[in-house]
Amino acid sequence: MFRPLSVVRNEDDWSPQTWQQRPAQQQPQYAADGELAKATDRLARLPPLVTSLEVLKLKRALAEAQEGRRFLLHGGDCAESFVDCTSEIIANRLKVLLQMSIVLAHGLKQPVIRVGRFAGQYAKPRSSDEETRDGVSLPSFRGDIVNGADFDEASRRPDPNRMFEAYAHSALTLNFTRAMVDGGFGDIHHPEYWKLDWVEHSPRAIEYKRVVEEIADSLRFMKTVGGQFVDSRMHTGFYTSHEALLLPYEAALTRRVPQRGGWFNLSTHLPWIGMRTAALGGAHVELFRGIGNPIAVKVGPTTKPDELLRLIDVLNPYEEPGRLTLITRMGKSRIADALPGLLKAVRQAGRRVLWVADPMHGNTESVGNGYKTRRFDNIRGELDLAFDIHAAEGTRLGGVHLELTGEDVTECLGGARDLAEADLSRAYKTAVDPRLNYEQSLELSMLIVSASRATPSTRPIAPRLQAMGGSL
Ligand code: PEP
Ligand code: CO
Repeated sequence: MFRPLSVVRNEDDWSPQTWQQRPAQQQPQYAADGELAKATDRLARLPPLVTSLEVLKLKRALAEAQEGRRFLLHGGDCAESFVDCTSEIIANRLKVLLQMSIVLAHGLKQPVIRVGRFAGQYAKPRSSDEETRDGVSLPSFRGDIVNGADFDEASRRPDPNRMFEAYAHSALTLNFTRAMVDGGFGDIHHPEYWKLDWVEHSPRAIEYKRVVEEIADSLRFMKTVGGQFVDSRMHTGFYTSHEALLLPYEAALTRRVPQRGGWFNLSTHLPWIGMRTAALGGAHVELFRGIGNPIAVKVGPTTKPDELLRLIDVLNPYEEPGRLTLITRMGKSRIADALPGLLKAVRQAGRRVLWVADPMHGNTESVGNGYKTRRFDNIRGELDLAFDIHAAEGTRLGGVHLELTGEDVTECLGGARDLAEADLSRAYKTAVDPRLNYEQSLELSMLIVSASRATPSTRPIAPRLQAMGGSL
């Protein structure tokens, strides 16, 4: 029988400021001139960006996903930037996410929870506090919410007032997104209006065309029997998410909601803790343990099963449904060794989590011409293995976490058009990590459907895992 190690109810020994007594990783060094306190005091008086009602609705949906009744599609930019807050970029990103969710809902035969990695994804963890170029060292770029990317002293100085800009750009993005989702986005549901010329370039073209025709048929059928039914069915909401990295900002947007019994981070629906800041006893875990949102934590290949169980104890001591999502980001070459032990430990401890796969962050590499990239085959390969390993362990992979854009960028290699290293320079635009482009994202959603259907009994799991050097 599970016994929580930490039984702290909201507010017993927690407030939105108790994180300050813990070691905080990945924070900028702001000048000690009082500007930070002024900025956070002002932010704390501004209205929240989301409501606790929406946040709890998402928590209920995630609880259903934990029970196998929904699938989570979580995707967007690695790092949003203020200059990319344009109608075209926001609309295209939303479109690709909605189209992917239709492919997934159709193929998986269950509702898809759509969570955008945007409207707040402005802070980035870095491997080093400083960057040195030609003998000059300056603070690293930590995302638009902290400093500027240009390599000069003024740009790189952390500026607390950038938090207002991040707040404002999040509000603008959210406002436009809500308007589009509420407006029904018209034709977007219908594959006739999708850009599908890439399908011809794939060896699986026949299968993809069949999927697209099936989707078109079922939408037509639903329309015939239900009139506006399709539109209203598709309006199952859209949620936002970001890495809640910059603690003074996240704490200022953490608000008390007495009628719902506690505190919520109202900067986003689903805040997550990144891999570099997930230490037990660290400031991020401290802030998160007191908020009522559903939360997610990234889990990497070096996480030990007992560490993970202690983290679950602290973040979800009362085993609340929908509360905790674990996003595994192992890398294709390490997942077969790293994932089974964690799944087993969590299952044997009887803990309830939503398992989600991030096939992006363990598969980043630099290629000859200096570009940071990811190979479509590795991304897809990690997802295939994640489905297999969950099936073998008797657990369920309930969602995916992807870095993508609705633009025609050339940042990840491969896919139906087989982007090569020489293509990367054509449209490499990301501020931090390489993203799947529009076509690669749609293609991946079709492959996710095939991977989830191909259980170990229909696809030989053992040879594939053995080929990876893994054991089950
Ligand atoms: C990210 O999601 O952009 C990120 C930094 O992830 P991770 O913490 O898994 O490295
Ligand atoms: Co990233």
